Amino acid sequence: MMPCVTSASPDARSRPIGVFDSGVGGLTVLHELLVQLPREDFVYLGDTARFPYGERAPEELARFASEIVEELLRRKAKLLVVACNAATSAALPILERRMMETTLGVELLGVVRPEALQAVAATRNGRIGLLATPVTVASRSYERAVGAVDPHVTLHPVACPTLASIIQAGEQFDERAVDSVRAACEPLIAAEVDTVILGCTHYPLISPMLQRILGPYVKLVSSGGALARQVEHALSTRGLSNPREHGEGRYSFLCTGDVGAFREIGTRFLQMPLGDVEQVRLAAAEAFA
Ligand code: DGL
Repeated sequence: MMPCVTSASPDARSRPIGVFDSGVGGLTVLHELLVQLPREDFVYLGDTARFPYGERAPEELARFASEIVEELLRRKAKLLVVACNAATSAALPILERRMMETTLGVELLGVVRPEALQAVAATRNGRIGLLATPVTVASRSYERAVGAVDPHVTLHPVACPTLASIIQAGEQFDERAVDSVRAACEPLIAAEVDTVILGCTHYPLISPMLQRILGPYVKLVSSGGALARQVEHALSTRGLSNPREHGEGRYSFLCTGDVGAFREIGTRFLQMPLGDVEQVRLAAAEAFA
């Protein structure tokens, strides 16, 4: 029997879903959300002025994420997607705790758990590689998430300090870029992993290069598709799906840095037109400070 779902008011259901990242990497997640949830509205925030997050302290990232969450709540987000592995790893538990202390009832979904679930389901030999930024690797968030699903698999993490910046710069990939991707893959090849988690939302953009270096039988796992299914599930079980019956929803963009640069590189990440981008100045978080 289908569980009975009480719908929120049409006003609450019509609110947008908030999505954020340090820059444009989260657009690879937004892309999946737009494809799988065409009736929903979205507002995306890229904290481009403070990119990259990958080598910052976890406390600093928790503060940045809190400021962004407040901005997205001001814009009436009904659900929040942390489309950044660094922010998820450093701040998700803190944000969840603080969110529970408010009466807003808005939930947050991060990118680590969906990837851990997929990776454990995909591996045959129990050896999973992880490519991620230094702060994500240091947090050990993937060890915890993978271990919670199956404590018998082994995770082989590789911290990649420059990869997200090379990708976000959006220039043609030269030999230097290929060399740093190859160097990141070497320990994973040596460890004979059969599954690799792309632990940064920028990395799906270089999937072809990674697949070629790692070999065609290695399964690459990213968060976008699984997270979109999780969002769909969360909305329908909480009676929060957009009541729109026809046509597609709206999506809009905020960034903290240069608008022109965001629009240019963002179009490539999203693989759809970007439209208007608004520059936003983030205020120090109050409720989450
Ligand atoms: N896209 C971000 C992530 O998923 C990281 C890039 C960065 O800001 O260093 O971790």
